[in-house]
Amino acid sequence: MNNIIQFYTKISKTYDLMNHMVYSERLSRKIIELAEIKEHNTVLDLACGTGWLSSRLEGQNVKVHGVDLTPSMLAKAKRQINGDFLIGVAEALPYRSESFDAIVCNMAFSHFNYHATAGEIYRTLKPSGRFVATDSVDPNPGIYDALAYYPARFVVKLLWVLAGRPIDRSARDETKAFDPKSDRIRTALGEYMETNVELRYDLLGPASRWKSGCKIIYGIKQ
Ligand SMILES: C[S@@+](CC[C@H](N)C(=O)[O-])C[C@H]1O[C@@H](n2cnc3c(N)ncnc32)[C@H](O)[C@@H]1O
Repeated sequence: MNNIIQFYTKISKTYDLMNHMVYSERLSRKIIELAEIKEHNTVLDLACGTGWLSSRLEGQNVKVHGVDLTPSMLAKAKRQINGDFLIGVAEALPYRSESFDAIVCNMAFSHFNYHATAGEIYRTLKPSGRFVATDSVDPNPGIYDALAYYPARFVVKLLWVLAGRPIDRSARDETKAFDPKSDRIRTALGEYMETNVELRYDLLGPASRWKSGCKIIYGIKQ
């Protein structure tokens, strides 16, 4: 976890300059729509970072809570957004059971311990509460999986595109999309709730769309 904190502490200064290029308003609208957030709901932005998603909930007459591991990311959310923000980990959420009508999580789940976090989501959601998470997917080629180091993946993808081998956006069937991590997220959540997945190539911002798709994993607590 210390590596994650170090990484996000470093990029926290410039994070907000980039995130409107990486994410899009279509993406936040889709997350809010799938979470079925209504007026007076209490909503948790899990691993809220600087509060990109929380800020989209402001003004919708909902009670916004945010939790994140990295103090410098969270400090920005606190300064910028009207909500309750806490330092904490996804695997042991600092909230009582059945606190939230909805929990949303943008581009962070792959950092977590999947099983522990799925249990905490289930515990802190109210009955009939909804959970929505996003994750990026690399449709091809499979070689990315061998490259754990992100910059190396980036270079391979760039060379792939420059060599005229476009990203296979026809692989709209989620089972064809190359993404073992998202499948692990779904499996972990599936132990607690019925889940659905939507794979989209049109929801990310201009800096991400050329190389990635977006997988949305969502479920409802029965
Ligand atoms: C890519 S950022 C996404 C931030 C935010 N959701 C957004 O949409 O901009 C990932 C965030 O996950 C947080 N994070 C990573 N592991 C975590 C954990 N185990 N518990 C809570 N937050 C965590 C990091 O501190 C970072 O702020």
